[in-house]
Amino acid sequence: MLTTLIYRSQLSLTCTSAALSALVEKARIRNTEQGISGILLSSGHDVLQILEGTEQNVVALFNTIRADNRHTGVVELMRDYGPRRRFEDVGMLLFNMDVQTPKAVLASVLHYSKLESYLTSEDRVFKFIQTFITGKPLSHPLRTMSLINGRFRESARRLVKG
Ligand SMILES: Cc1cc2nc3c(=O)[nH]c(=O)nc-3n(C[C@H](O)[C@H](O)[C@H](O)COP(=O)(O)O)c2cc1C
Repeated sequence: MLTTLIYRSQLSLTCTSAALSALVEKARIRNTEQGISGILLSSGHDVLQILEGTEQNVVALFNTIRADNRHTGVVELMRDYGPRRRFEDVGMLLFNMDVQTPKAVLASVLHYSKLESYLTSEDRVFKFIQTFITGKPLSHPLRTMSLINGRFRESARRLVKG
């Protein structure tokens, strides 16, 4: 069954942003082999990671990740089952908020995601991402979508029109 797991943690002091980039490069290859997709957001030492895949693969990977001493304070925030992935064919994407503005990170995340199709359901995953990036949940997802140019703005308009 398709499982989505979200956790947050703090990188250890020795895990620099260069080390994190290298880690994610390797993770992307392994995840693709395991049919796992997702994203990793980092802001200073804080990390939010979303893992999607079969329950067996996601849980096995999460058990490996939580034992990794390159981060501490791992807290599982959500584990859910659903019919569709939010991130496809990406293996693992890294978004570093220390080098991009929150607005740019949000735009990139939405660009790589299928989140637009969850807009009407006030998606929980979207809210975790939004809260991590902006520091607070926005009053309505469409406000976030209006930050984005192109097809997201277009689909937001379609939703508003019904
Ligand atoms: C914050 C963080 C996120 C990670 N994300 C992944 C991931 O998505 N996929 C992955 O294969 N390894 C990830 N790793 C690395 C794993 O913890 C582990 O080192 C890797 O899977 C190799 O496992 P092994 O040493 O048992 O072969 C992550 C590590 C950290 C600290």
